[in-house]
Amino acid sequence: MKLKAKITIVTGGGSGIGASICQAYAAAGAVVCIADINGDGAKDVANTIKSSGGMASAHTVDVTNSGEIASMVADVIAEHGRIDTLVNNAGARIIKGFMQHSEADWHNMLNINLTGPFLYSQAVVPNMVANDGGSIINVCSIASFQGRPNRCAYVSAKSGLLGLTRAMAMDLGSKRIRVNAIAPGMIASPFNQSFAEAEDTGDAWATENPTGRWGQPDDISGAAVFLATDDASFITGAEIKIDGGWLAARARIGEVPMWDDD
Ligand SMILES: NC(=O)c1ccc[n+]([C@@H]2O[C@H](COP(=O)([O-])OP(=O)(O)OC[C@H]3O[C@@H](n4cnc5c(N)ncnc54)[C@H](O)[C@@H]3O)[C@@H](O)[C@H]2O)c1
Repeated sequence: MKLKAKITIVTGGGSGIGASICQAYAAAGAVVCIADINGDGAKDVANTIKSSGGMASAHTVDVTNSGEIASMVADVIAEHGRIDTLVNNAGARIIKGFMQHSEADWHNMLNINLTGPFLYSQAVVPNMVANDGGSIINVCSIASFQGRPNRCAYVSAKSGLLGLTRAMAMDLGSKRIRVNAIAPGMIASPFNQSFAEAEDTGDAWATENPTGRWGQPDDISGAAVFLATDDASFITGAEIKIDGGWLAARARIGEVPMWDDD
């Protein structure tokens, strides 16, 4: 059990990728403290973990609210005495044209996807420093690397989150706190359910990456566990793209890799 008794906070752990990360951490022996604005979702995931012998608790927290974060972090420290790992996974996405984004949309995207991880990290770092280190994992996106249509605020926030990851790796390295990013591609979580199920995008989008399939939440959680273990002790400021190769390689329409037996 590579994360035995490691005290871990996972934000947005009540659904999709976050829920899978919570289950993978629990299976690796961690104590998982699930923070989600959807308290019922967090409770469901915590109960599933506990019913299979793992350790988990659920907390209703809005990652844009520093007071709620401080109170949750204080509760975790009061109960467990320390925080070893923080996974900043909570996120949301607005899809609208550039001119359709309102000022409120802009602030909303930046608050949830960028300010939230900043606030949560600031809340846990003093405890990690006192305990001689820790690991912070920020869930970024392929949108951290590329402009994507109709997502100007989301792309800005996720690009900023990658920058924050690198800057924090620098600032916190001497305190033995490692900070890394995971960048999922197209994952068939509730976040993308409508695209995965739609006739025009479901099968078509699967063929856009070299693996030829949609990713699943469980495709992300292994890397999230790895980055928290001592196997990753020399890895900080790094990003792991988990996108079936979508960012790395692209065929033009009509181009297909050739084989002798074709
Ligand atoms: N699904 C994908 O294809 C994909 C691709 C790239 C990046 N991501 C990122 O992965 C992360 C997880 O996404 P997912 O696919 O599991 O989505 P999801 O919608 O299934 O889960 C997101 C979770 O975050 C929670 N959340 C939203 N706003 C919150 C807030 N203000 N405070 C606390 N919790 C909040 C939601 O309640 C939900 O439980 C997100 O950061 C997302 O941007 C997802």
